[in-house]
Amino acid sequence: MVGAGCCGGGGYAVAFVLLRATFFASIIMKYSLVAGLVFQGTVVLAELLPVHFKAPTAAHFIDIVRNDTFDFGCRPIAHPTDDGHFTLHALLTEEQIAHVSKEYEWMPEMSIHRQDLSKRAATAPIGTGNRFTTNAPVGLGTQASGATIASIMNVNEINSAIQALVKTYGVSTITLPNRTFNGATQVAAFVGAGTDKSAYHLYLSAGMHARERGGPDNLLYWISDLLAANKAGSGLTYGRKTYTNAQVKSILAAGIVFFPLVNPDGVAYDQSSGSLWRKNRNTRSGSSGSSIGVDLNRNFDFLWNFKKFFAAGETPASTSPSSEAFYGTAAFSEPETKNHVSIYDSFPKIRWFMDIHSAAGDILYSWGDDENQATTPTMNFLNAAYDGKRGPVGDTAYKEYAPSADITNIKNVAAKTVAAMKAVGGRSYSAIQAVGLYATSGASDDYAYSRHFADSGKNKIHGFTMEFGYSTNFYPTSSEFNQNILDTNAGFMDWALAAIAVGLE
Ligand SMILES: *[C@@H]1O[C@H](CO)[C@@H](O)[C@H](O)[C@H]1NC(C)=O
Ligand SMILES: *[C@@H]1O[C@H](CO)[C@@H](O)[C@H](O)[C@H]1NC(C)=O
Ligand SMILES: [Zn+2]
Repeated sequence: MVGAGCCGGGGYAVAFVLLRATFFASIIMKYSLVAGLVFQGTVVLAELLPVHFKAPTAAHFIDIVRNDTFDFGCRPIAHPTDDGHFTLHALLTEEQIAHVSKEYEWMPEMSIHRQDLSKRAATAPIGTGNRFTTNAPVGLGTQASGATIASIMNVNEINSAIQALVKTYGVSTITLPNRTFNGATQVAAFVGAGTDKSAYHLYLSAGMHARERGGPDNLLYWISDLLAANKAGSGLTYGRKTYTNAQVKSILAAGIVFFPLVNPDGVAYDQSSGSLWRKNRNTRSGSSGSSIGVDLNRNFDFLWNFKKFFAAGETPASTSPSSEAFYGTAAFSEPETKNHVSIYDSFPKIRWFMDIHSAAGDILYSWGDDENQATTPTMNFLNAAYDGKRGPVGDTAYKEYAPSADITNIKNVAAKTVAAMKAVGGRSYSAIQAVGLYATSGASDDYAYSRHFADSGKNKIHGFTMEFGYSTNFYPTSSEFNQNILDTNAGFMDWALAAIAVGLE
């Protein structure tokens, strides 16, 4: 699938600059990753390159996945290929490529492939002004077929887009309790179901991983489309997929809470540096280069302390500040994750949650810590008897419990979401269980679903992750950026419609 279909996958020539004492800001080029690491008095230049491994089974990748110095994007995912193999995408330096190539010399059935960057078009630009000081965003679903959006929203534009929706359509906002490390105030918004916050059942968030460009745009243009179509009494069109005005109205009536920019510090840094920055910008655990920042999607209170909860050797997150998957200093140690979950307290009847990420081409459904099982309720994330056993896929020591009705429902909703994305006419997406073949801890989707099991007084929330775009292709070209808007927006429509069909209460 990925091997055959991924034409655009990842195209950045990234310069990795290691310096001793001086930090030459002037050499920050458009695609440079400036690590700012101290390296014994020498200047070393290396490139961070999109690659994929290919092997007959996903198990072949297990030792690579366990090395938390490698960058696999949001989470390592093995994808089946048309010729019966599996691929695993990563961003590696030449040094890392040399290291793994040597390590796997003895295993000829495992190969490593570099993406061809030579034919790649320029990546979509970031907006330079502020397009939404007076006008609300206009999505692609309400524009003529073939219309395009010229640039990705900068941080100011994301904020002003929210305010423009307030002014134009009467959207309401909620200021979240904690300020980010760099002092940003975070705002979420809600629309469609009036002032009673217990009438809101859908929650979508974006911009958690800074470099995943276009995530906030996908969400804001979709909300803009719903509101414009509602006002005009019209439907929506995304490529070959169309929706009626009645469908638009039913989605709004379900009550939508949206949080388009979970990680403003990280996004501001990524947009100014072009450094493929993923984490937030907290410097408490490390103050230079890659040691800065916490991976927000490993910081939620779900099996956060993975050393205790997971089997030895499993790496669902990292304890190392320099890793892309650094889990922080405690569950919810970060203001951004605290703010993210404060929304569940403000809107106590949220039933369906979607976290928008890139880039893999998947819709992920629960659980992400191990395989699902519906037969042994006591085998669950709360039961200390299973500490040290969670994580490995394909074994019988542990599988995470979910009632079979839930599994049926979430698979159905995920399947409808990917069917809509495919029907747009661009590329195909896959619905897979979040664990894939490798576990994660502390992720937003699992946390959402876990709340009700941890405290039956809390509403049950079905958590999904959308991974739009081609594998490790965090900076889309202009054409990919626009295609991603069409694909994701149709996906959100059918995700919401399928959720409504399953039930909101
Ligand atoms: C991870 O990979 C690096 C090479 O990039 C290597 O030096 C290191 O030993 C590996 N770690 C483990 C635990 O295998
Ligand atoms: C969030 O704000 C509360 C109240 O001001 C404070 O006690 C808490 O430490 C903050 N947490 C984070 C992670 O910023
Ligand atoms: Zn992500």
